[in-house]
Amino acid sequence: MYVLGIDLGTSSLKGLLLNKKGDVVATESSEYELHIPKSGYSEQNPQNWVLAMKIVFEKLVKTVPNIKTGLEGISFSGQMHSLIVLDEKKNVLRNAILWNDVRTTKQCQTILKELPNIVDITKNTALEGFTLPKILWIQENEPEIWEKIKYIVLPKDYLGYYLTGNINMDYSDAAGTLMLDVLNKKWSNEITDKFNIDKNILPNLVNSTDFIGNLLPNLQSDFGFEKEIKIFAGGADNACAAIGSGIVDKEKSMASIGTSGVFLTYEEKHNGYDGKLHYFNHGLKDSYYSMGVTLSAGHSLSWFKQNFSNDEDYNELLDGIEDLETNLFFTPYIVGERTPHTNSKIRGSFIGIDTNHTKKHFAKAVLEGITFSLKDCATIMESVGHKFESIVSVGGGAKNKIWLQMQADIFDSSVITLKTEQGPGFGAAMIAAVGVKWFKDLKECAKNFVHYQDKFIPNKQKVEKYKKAYEIYKTIYDSTKDICAEISEL
Ligand code: XUL
Repeated sequence: MYVLGIDLGTSSLKGLLLNKKGDVVATESSEYELHIPKSGYSEQNPQNWVLAMKIVFEKLVKTVPNIKTGLEGISFSGQMHSLIVLDEKKNVLRNAILWNDVRTTKQCQTILKELPNIVDITKNTALEGFTLPKILWIQENEPEIWEKIKYIVLPKDYLGYYLTGNINMDYSDAAGTLMLDVLNKKWSNEITDKFNIDKNILPNLVNSTDFIGNLLPNLQSDFGFEKEIKIFAGGADNACAAIGSGIVDKEKSMASIGTSGVFLTYEEKHNGYDGKLHYFNHGLKDSYYSMGVTLSAGHSLSWFKQNFSNDEDYNELLDGIEDLETNLFFTPYIVGERTPHTNSKIRGSFIGIDTNHTKKHFAKAVLEGITFSLKDCATIMESVGHKFESIVSVGGGAKNKIWLQMQADIFDSSVITLKTEQGPGFGAAMIAAVGVKWFKDLKECAKNFVHYQDKFIPNKQKVEKYKKAYEIYKTIYDSTKDICAEISEL
């Protein structure tokens, strides 16, 4: 028996097939294009996601023919916030406007002006990436499309609709639209009324593990499946990444270092962070997670390596840095920053350059700067009482032991790694596993499916040094923000 997690990412769609023991039996993927019609715009054609999903189904049926009779359930993890608009026949009206499209600065300003209390309802502030500003952009700039819109969905919900014929949206993704009353789990009348959005165009809200329909009979036979397959709503990619890393209770948090970095923690219901962090509904019923985002995490290191050390690999570059003095600082704001500063004009800096410094000092400063910037997010969480005892490190930050130890020392918490890291698709497959009732809930599923490997314990001496260094790091933003604003005007 199998379940399938589909992760609809920004560059590709991945399928991850799990058996009842939680082993990854097969993974397949298919890529698609990003359209950038203008600087700052980022779009995709939803039909290409469907095509990629079909390719992934075909490949999986070929590699594991048993799934023709053994696949029980499918669920999804999806890129958040991206807007898909459908007409009354449920045809796509225009390309999807993606989460990383930043054309909506003006609409964000309008939202905050017209509804200054929006953060009290949505627990998140208006950011260009979120869905509501994109809707207002269409209202303003494409009235002929706006008139025809009868349904609004997010990427993974479009796949759910394609497979079942039913339109739904789960709470973890709905939270990223900036239209959800996050604590009361319903669309906000105040927001829809204020911005003239007919509530009927918003989908029915469901839990991530809720059944949304069987695979349509014609698709079942097209793909060669011989039994009925149940489809479950799924969740936002960050919620699914958290589920797949076992962040399903207060015990653990997650530091994820990809191109951008995310520090994420499980939350019980509270009033959020006044927009300083994202505060979204989790994929687990009636729970939440908060997260902060460092825009250039892994990107800062790859930028550094590419420009100053392209002839060696990461391990060579980082070899021996653990014993170097911490007296050079780097702020990783090389494309601006989201958390905690939300400043598109801020840029990075190296502070404290000394004649004794070598390339390795700079490399160490880059790692520390990235980690300090994630600590900024953790510090906001600590302000409402969080204590970090176990942080699951995933992504590039989990690939180097020196960096993992550094994370333990800077976060002053144990840092653990996953045995096999599979990303959000694993969380999506876990949602399907709970949907088909292999487990009573996601907590029980995580106990059985999520396994950890290495553990890094904070070194007391280094923790103390890093506490002092972090106090200095925090002052660099204020000291450089005006300079950076001026530089941006040059
Ligand atoms: C979260 C966000 C991204 C997308 C990427 O707020 O914008 O992490 O979910 O897919």
